Amino acid sequence: MTGAAAWDAFWSALPAEPGAALWDSSPELTAARHLPLFRDHADPALPLLDVGCGSGRQTQWLARHFPRAVGVDVAEAAVALAAASHPAPNVTYRRADLLDEDTAVALHAEFGDVNVYLRGVLHQLAPDDRGRMLTAIARLLGGTGTLFAQELTERTGWYVAELLAGGAHLPKTAGLAAHFDFGARVAPAHDGRLRLLFEQYGFDVVADGDIALHTTEHTPGGHPLELPTAYLVAHASAWP
Ligand SMILES: C[S@@+](CC[C@H](N)C(=O)[O-])C[C@H]1O[C@@H](n2cnc3c(N)ncnc32)[C@H](O)[C@@H]1O
Repeated sequence: MTGAAAWDAFWSALPAEPGAALWDSSPELTAARHLPLFRDHADPALPLLDVGCGSGRQTQWLARHFPRAVGVDVAEAAVALAAASHPAPNVTYRRADLLDEDTAVALHAEFGDVNVYLRGVLHQLAPDDRGRMLTAIARLLGGTGTLFAQELTERTGWYVAELLAGGAHLPKTAGLAAHFDFGARVAPAHDGRLRLLFEQYGFDVVADGDIALHTTEHTPGGHPLELPTAYLVAHASAWP
């Protein structure tokens, strides 16, 4: 199955209620904690494009802080779910493959420079495709947009692998491991190198660091499972 087909199958099989996916955490624990990390670097008059928006749960919350928000996802089933479950007057959702250069060019022609929110998308791409997506994102940002990215790293993979190897009852995490090789696929760059990856593609990184990814799964001890991940805020210093 290609990436798009695998994601469409994933979203089609998922129950529609918020939080069904492992990463589909409450915006109060997620986008609301991300916005302060990039707001001061971003032009709030630009639209926000949520690349790989999934259920649209974060898109809907972020839309309160920008004139409009557009959630794009390669999976038709995700776009349908987002439109049905997370609408807002200034939000639209559409299917778009951000590995396709023409798509990025067309989006930029339509919206001009945008701010981009990217959460949990790069890590599941093949290494060659990560560069293609970074180039597409640079096109979307143009000279004035700001990127916020949260990504899994190798540390996330080790953490998950250890939990599962230890026999922890984590059905969503184990299900993703089976579906997407989660925990085995190497993240965009190992710890500390997410920045280098973006710099290699001409981004000007203005902030980065460690951040927890709140999941919707609970540990055997009853605590919400949090995964170690990384974030980054950047501009496209040399956009294509
Ligand atoms: C782990 S989910 C994260 C969803 C959302 N960002 C969130 O944080 O809730 C990754 C999403 O990226 C989407 N995706 C994967 N490849 C993509 C591509 N080439 N273009 C656009 N979206 C893509 C998938 O369909 C999926 O919905």
